[in-house]
Amino acid sequence: MSTNDEFPTDRPAVVTCGLPYANGDLHIGHLRGYIGADAFARALETLGQQTAYVCGSDMHGTPVAVNAEQQGVDPEEFALEWHRQYEETFPKFNVEFDNYGHTHDETNTELTQDIVHTLDEEGYVYEKEIQVAYDPQADQYLPDRYVVGTCPYCGEAARGDECDEGCQRHLEPGEVEDPRSTITGNPAEYRKRAHKFFEVSAFAEYLTDFLDGLEGTSNARNQPRQWIEDGLQDWCITRDMDWGIDYPGEESVASAEHGNGDDLVLYVWVDAPIEYIASTKQYAERVGTDEYDWEEVWREDGEIVHIIGRDIIQHHTIFWPAMLEAADYNAPRAVAATGFITINGKGLSTSRNRAIWAKEYIDEDFHPDLLRYYLTTTGGLQQDVDFSWDAFQEKVNGELVGTVGNFWYRSLLFAYRNYEGTPEADVSGEVHERIQDAIADTREAVNDYDLRGIGRAATSLAQFGNEYIQHNEPWKLTDDSPDEAIQVIRDCVQIAKAVGVLLAPIAPEKAQALWDQLGEEGAVGDANLEIALETPPRHFDEPGELFEKIDDDRVDQLNAKLEQRIEEAATDEETESDDTDGDEDAAMTDTDDLEALAEDRISFDEFQDLDIRIGRIESAEGIDGADDLARLEVDIGFETRQVVAGIKQLHNLEELPGEKCVLLANMEPAELFGVESNGMILAAGEDADLLTTHGDAEVGEKVR
Ligand code: 2FM
Ligand code: ZN
Repeated sequence: MSTNDEFPTDRPAVVTCGLPYANGDLHIGHLRGYIGADAFARALETLGQQTAYVCGSDMHGTPVAVNAEQQGVDPEEFALEWHRQYEETFPKFNVEFDNYGHTHDETNTELTQDIVHTLDEEGYVYEKEIQVAYDPQADQYLPDRYVVGTCPYCGEAARGDECDEGCQRHLEPGEVEDPRSTITGNPAEYRKRAHKFFEVSAFAEYLTDFLDGLEGTSNARNQPRQWIEDGLQDWCITRDMDWGIDYPGEESVASAEHGNGDDLVLYVWVDAPIEYIASTKQYAERVGTDEYDWEEVWREDGEIVHIIGRDIIQHHTIFWPAMLEAADYNAPRAVAATGFITINGKGLSTSRNRAIWAKEYIDEDFHPDLLRYYLTTTGGLQQDVDFSWDAFQEKVNGELVGTVGNFWYRSLLFAYRNYEGTPEADVSGEVHERIQDAIADTREAVNDYDLRGIGRAATSLAQFGNEYIQHNEPWKLTDDSPDEAIQVIRDCVQIAKAVGVLLAPIAPEKAQALWDQLGEEGAVGDANLEIALETPPRHFDEPGELFEKIDDDRVDQLNAKLEQRIEEAATDEETESDDTDGDEDAAMTDTDDLEALAEDRISFDEFQDLDIRIGRIESAEGIDGADDLARLEVDIGFETRQVVAGIKQLHNLEELPGEKCVLLANMEPAELFGVESNGMILAAGEDADLLTTHGDAEVGEKVR
């Protein structure tokens, strides 16, 4: 249980997000993290928390070396080019880092060597001979992505240092089974080699306590607890490569004894997180340490918040805090691990071009705040979020255009036309209270690392505003009850301003546009939440509409483009099917097409709470007016249930009566197109294959 003070505290905070490998184009999967962390950092600031948002490019390691080699380019040049591209790309999504460095710069190199030196001095580093994969034909060792094989823990295809397709564990050199070189495609040999190890196992007790107090998402606490229980292994922190940061004071025994001195560098996962500190330091040096004290954050008791993808939980909750503790640095306050992005219900795959690329989104000329809104408010932080152009359209048209934009425009336009701005009156008690509640909800959501909650506080206030104006009909009051009309519009202008303040972390540019329309001075992002209750300027100009509908044709075109790209990539893949050149998706299997397995386990008791019964369909007919829905009568032994299912287009309804099915009987009743649904038929797959039984299970029997 966390014992931290609530945000805002009087200590400086730093928010970080996982460093992108400087090795290729950014896509929506990356953007979810950078946008999410940006929104969170902005939201912390609106609470009055001093906050720096930092990141940098991850320049080292095999993810960069392998791709550079494929292009025949020097890794430094290659990584720097991508680094420059990222620096240009992030602002286009209104992702504004206080500092964006890279791991190959001087600050990070020095700090990394200093920290590793301290680990060594403190006695936490030792040397050990281990088996390292080796490609005899290429005559080189095969660190990390130079080798693929099978994960010893879950049996899925894995890279040399990570089970990226399966259990997401970090794998130590020598662990991957059936190793194969990604350089030649040949089976790899294992050869003995001396490497440096950081004694993570000495921190089991420390890490257990650390996790008990850790804030963020539950997956970032629960998975590592299990790993600690299973027994922590020490961590190999050197690699046989020449691209990376040298082991400090490099006369290491490993290099000297094996005559390979120049080719031993620190594992990329040592210097990458240290960039969080280096980048904060660079920021503090730029603004002055009086303004932002990086050492207070990292060496004393500042608030460190890491926002990461769930595939790198182990690095951030085991290796990293152990390193920080061993080198006498401050521990993170929170690790919030986001789920993945799927595209049209299938796994995002760069090699299959099933992705939405950052560049593509920009070229389509959609406003960045639309994607920011979509990615932060569709699903909770740790859930996977599906992206489809249809869902994007629905969310933009429904919530941003229909709720927020509509309310902003109609309120401000009415105020402008009738009063040339904010009418003179006090805000009513009811509206004042409603805004206060929304501020409290935002504060709570920030403290819960709940981005969706931050968005919801703003949109539900806009929804309230829409209902308020609709209910009070000020257009009917202006002539006969002018004071009442003034009151309603005064309230609405205040709600509009409050929605802007609350939405600013998520949609900063749109909120700024609203701010400007209200005639407010300065940046809405500099405003504290409480400013939502302060009176807007008396006069403002005619407002414009801030959100635009996305029409159906546009969505059809985008869908067609995406499908075509995927088809083209599939054709290319067939032609290059024996490609084993270390492509980042080389180890990909058919599980790409499947939704990721749920991480959180449920207890047997929780399963027992699901009342799943064998049923027999008695009748099935389409529901008038609904394209996809059918009304079914299902006999479940005790009674016959009416159920609505989205199978109208997918099954021949006439053939269904008499078929056995499986029904979740204690599903909450719901009304769809005016028809009550009293249960849920279970189905799987794109064509809604109805689950059934094949033996003697009787109608009414419970599934257990
Ligand atoms: O997994 C990745 O993409 C890594 N580049 C993340 C590094 S995060 C951190 F620790 F620096
Ligand atoms: Zn695994």
